[in-house]
Amino acid sequence: MNYYDLAIRRKSTRSFKNKKVPAETLSQILNEAASCEKLVPDLQTEWKLLDEGIDKWIAGCAGYHGYMIDAPHYLLLLSADGPHDLENAGYAGEDIVLKLTQMGLATCWITILDPDGLKMLLRLDSPLKPAALIAFGYEKAPIGGSTRIDIKSPSDIHMKQRTGHIAPKLYVKESVYQASWGSPCDLSAWEPDSSLYRALIAACCAPSALNRQPYRFLMDKNFIYLACMKDELTTPSDARLNLGIVMLHFAMVISHQNTLHGQWELSVPETDYHLPEGAYIAGRFQI
Ligand SMILES: Cc1cc2nc3c(=O)[nH]c(=O)nc-3n(C[C@H](O)[C@H](O)[C@H](O)COP(=O)(O)O)c2cc1C
Repeated sequence: MNYYDLAIRRKSTRSFKNKKVPAETLSQILNEAASCEKLVPDLQTEWKLLDEGIDKWIAGCAGYHGYMIDAPHYLLLLSADGPHDLENAGYAGEDIVLKLTQMGLATCWITILDPDGLKMLLRLDSPLKPAALIAFGYEKAPIGGSTRIDIKSPSDIHMKQRTGHIAPKLYVKESVYQASWGSPCDLSAWEPDSSLYRALIAACCAPSALNRQPYRFLMDKNFIYLACMKDELTTPSDARLNLGIVMLHFAMVISHQNTLHGQWELSVPETDYHLPEGAYIAGRFQI
């Protein structure tokens, strides 16, 4: 899989064709899901495939303000409780989102507002709890066709707006600090097609709840740190899913471009990076 291209090509879709995905493709998706990337490999998880119509039952428990997206299929990730369970759900879920993108399918992450209510309404008999929900199917308008990023120079990357769907993203130069919060990072020395640069571009294209992207990167020595910012519009659960999603984009691109097979470290020694109030370091990746 070319994770870089997929990270750039992916976008959320809220308008699906009234057409089912063939049964053999659905079983291929479930097989892929069973072996998807994980941030916390030992944590027990299970994917469930839900069909059209559940949006009516579970409205109120999921979706922005309880408004569910009507799609022919949904994937629900159930997870055991544990440290970094939702970051892991974001990481695993986004791996599936990119795999679905590669298969030509459209996707949309859906906020889970009430995991217990959702579990009850879906009559799920499992000790695991709903952690991530993704709508998928065929998009009504054709997918793809337009380029999403516009690289003018290594330090000047812009997102191109696409007709019909506009979700502007962070620029790399605005999202990476050097060693201390707010200190700009000199990007001019970086090759635009270096694995680190491409991994940061992919990270800046990551989906986030309400497209808020409440995170930034800090470079310090041979590590890149991911800082999560306080954001009043993002629910605590979505904030942690967002982190897993952005970590997946970064890790997959840097690892696939490189021989380096790094891993996000989630328990990070405390260092004073002068973070704003309410922000914290969610993890670091050796580069
Ligand atoms: C954790 C999470 C929860 C989301 N919840 C919803 C949702 O409930 N309803 C919705 O329409 N979109 C939802 N989205 C999709 C975002 O609105 C979308 O990713 C964002 O606007 C950026 O657009 P893009 O995905 O096209 O880049 C969610 C995304 C994430 C990552």
